Amino acid sequence: MRLEMWVLALTLGLCSVVEGTILQNGQVRETNFPNTKINPAAHDFKTYAADTAELSYKGRWDSKKVSYWSAPGLVFGFSGDMVAISFGEHTINGTLVGYRIGGMDWTFTNVTTGGTHLLVTPETPGVGETYPINPKRFEMRVSNWGYGVQIDKVHVGAGESLIKIPPYKRTIEFIGDSLSAGDFQSYEGLSSFAYGVGEGLGKTEYYVTAFPGICVTDQECWGNPRGQVHQWFYSSDTSWRAAGIWGDNPEPWDFEKMETTPDIVVINLGTNDNNVANNVSAAAYVDAYKKLIQGVHGKYPKAQVVVMELWLGFYKYGNSYAQNQGFQKELQDIVEYFNSPEYLSAPTIWDGTTKTAKTLRTPSKPFVHYFRTKGILQHNDIGPQYHPTDVGAIKVASHLLQYIKMTFGWDLVATGPEVFHETLYWNDQNSY
Ligand SMILES: *[C@@H]1O[C@H](CO)[C@@H](O)[C@H](O)[C@H]1NC(C)=O
Ligand SMILES: *[C@@H]1O[C@H](CO)[C@@H](O)[C@H](O)[C@H]1NC(C)=O
Ligand SMILES: *[C@@H]1O[C@H](CO)[C@@H](O)[C@H](O)[C@H]1NC(C)=O
Repeated sequence: MRLEMWVLALTLGLCSVVEGTILQNGQVRETNFPNTKINPAAHDFKTYAADTAELSYKGRWDSKKVSYWSAPGLVFGFSGDMVAISFGEHTINGTLVGYRIGGMDWTFTNVTTGGTHLLVTPETPGVGETYPINPKRFEMRVSNWGYGVQIDKVHVGAGESLIKIPPYKRTIEFIGDSLSAGDFQSYEGLSSFAYGVGEGLGKTEYYVTAFPGICVTDQECWGNPRGQVHQWFYSSDTSWRAAGIWGDNPEPWDFEKMETTPDIVVINLGTNDNNVANNVSAAAYVDAYKKLIQGVHGKYPKAQVVVMELWLGFYKYGNSYAQNQGFQKELQDIVEYFNSPEYLSAPTIWDGTTKTAKTLRTPSKPFVHYFRTKGILQHNDIGPQYHPTDVGAIKVASHLLQYIKMTFGWDLVATGPEVFHETLYWNDQNSY
């Protein structure tokens, strides 16, 4: 009995840490997340099932409408001034989600397993306006990479309705690890550089297929049983949560059913492969990385692929600082390999399951690019847990946005909506 109580106390203690407490330089950040949980029976709703055609799922979700990977979202238009969502049994209790109407600022709330949460009311900013975004666009995104939600039902006011919002015309996908998933940034997935690029481009769909600790090489790395060269082909990530739902038989990701096909795929992988703890050889890394690109080329034949140079952190060097990089030669060789006339005249694609890649008869135009990150971050852009600070993530995102604009001619069309939440640092004293 005593032991049980101790276990319960410990569990509650841990929960209060994980459910949305943000530590900023070791101090608890004041957040005032609204409590949105309601009793649905006390409201007069029109209710829709999770597979209603008007609902657009962004990022990767499985057939049970469970979210995975980083910053997965749900978007729909609606009439009236009320929106509530009921979350299913596969929701991790206390998952922090961001939500908003149109381009208003994000609001965050902890959602609960089996709970119904009222996210839009007549007081919600933007609910009364029908311009410039019409119909009113509701968006929700999961902030944490390890937690997830299951959509059970969506409710609007009685007599109101959901409205289908067509996808944007441009799509970008990120394939990565913790550096792309926003690990250790304030709002995690919604503070990551990958989200910052996807959202920051404006009018662009984005997938952040990233999970902390994962290697590209198909082996166990920091507790992830498989590498991205394998897992990228599946709906679910390598979390214990996914394993609890799907065991050893995860659902293959249905590339055919994607709402839009990515035009650009950015890969940032190798920081975990490079760590001696994971014992990945350079040859195994190069082989897996090439296969992943061949997989992307097979699934999205028209996509441009951007390989990101790695940054591994900084160290004090005499009277200044210096940067560690990893697999520099290997990454350059990979990019060169895909741009060689030999490869382009008979490119190979890989489907993620068979051992060997398939040679295509049709030649390809060059589609693999190299984004050099050297010089973007400095030593104080990395926090004590070896990941970029919010400022570091914003720097990487800003440079990558400009790279994408210059390389692919993508105009930056976001002209005001909030991208990074709570990054308004200012000085309003004109002298001191
Ligand atoms: C969300 O979780 C955090 C951490 O447990 C807690 O401090 C906060 O009060 C919660 N908010 C609501 C509305 O329950
Ligand atoms: C989820 O957490 C809330 C507190 O935030 C608690 O009241 C509720 O009982 C929990 N639900 C489950 C299913 O654990
Ligand atoms: C590392 O991998 C090599 C083979 O690539 C193997 O011989 C060696 O035993 C491994 N070391 C550890 C510590 O697992």
